[in-house]
Amino acid sequence: MTVDIKSRLADTAAEVEETLAALLPSITSDGDRLAEARVIEAMRYACQGGKRLRAFLTLETATAFGVSRGSAMRVACALECIHAYSLVHDDLPCMDDDDLRRGRPTTHRTFGEATAVLAGDALQTHAFTLLADDRTHENAFIRIQLVTAIAKASGAMGMVGGQMIDIEAESAPTPLTLPEITRLQRMKTGALIEVACQAGGILGKANAAHMRMLEGYGRDFGLVFQIVDDLLDIEGDVAAVGKAVGKDADAGKATFVSILGVEEAKDRAKRLTAQAIAHINPLGDRSAVLAALANYALERKN
Ligand code: IPE
Ligand code: IPE
Ligand code: MG
Ligand code: MG
Ligand code: MG
Repeated sequence: MTVDIKSRLADTAAEVEETLAALLPSITSDGDRLAEARVIEAMRYACQGGKRLRAFLTLETATAFGVSRGSAMRVACALECIHAYSLVHDDLPCMDDDDLRRGRPTTHRTFGEATAVLAGDALQTHAFTLLADDRTHENAFIRIQLVTAIAKASGAMGMVGGQMIDIEAESAPTPLTLPEITRLQRMKTGALIEVACQAGGILGKANAAHMRMLEGYGRDFGLVFQIVDDLLDIEGDVAAVGKAVGKDADAGKATFVSILGVEEAKDRAKRLTAQAIAHINPLGDRSAVLAALANYALERKN
């Protein structure tokens, strides 16, 4: 089965863009502009653009387990809200202090810091509002499983914890070791990517063996994704990546590239891609899109 992964990704991104715009709060009620409109504008702004990779992972793993598109799309949009919130906060002056995101000024540069913090907070809670709604899945037990898995992946044991280690590593007296960096990246970026893969299995009531395959794929894919992000910071082009490059080394970020060097990091990314694909091989034809995506993530230029 050959997969045109680029056009499949582009089609999905357009579908997610449209659905997300419909699922976010709107600034008017009965034609009147709400007093709190500014935070809603910032939420909507922060959610625009992006490759929609986490959404894609949920939609494709859901397809592999026979889940309806409407159901999976709501989970995909919830994950994109959490991801967008993480980027808004990541770009703040007290974090990575970035002015450019997705080819546009960052949310705090456009709306101010206080509004950006609030928009991030509200995007996070909005994600859980979407998940808890019975339009996401008729079975409340499944919805609770999703809420729990996504909350854990986003919190102190996942993304937030990883961001904490990332920030503290900037001023650590000694550089982090390889196992420490692996843990940091698994939490910071890997956790949300892994749960995006698990989500399709949860929605489709996949058995334990299938869940392990999705988790293995997500775990290795997540590491590859962050290694390539770190490589793009060194070798990427601002116009293509849509965000600043060449900042990680100056900021003293602990990355696979900082500890292994460019060539060894690339080698590791290649090996992890093969390993990610091997996890889902037993799914046969159902793994074709996910395998193509892993190869794309390795070669991506943005
Ligand atoms: C950027 O994620 C932040 C990381 C976790 C590396 P993406 O590269 O998926 O960002 P968008 O959503 O496409 O802008
Ligand atoms: C951010 O990692 C990961 C998040 C949890 C937001 P980076 O700081 O490397 O992401 P970019 O390079 O700013 O997109
Ligand atoms: Mg960061
Ligand atoms: Mg950053
Ligand atoms: Mg980066």
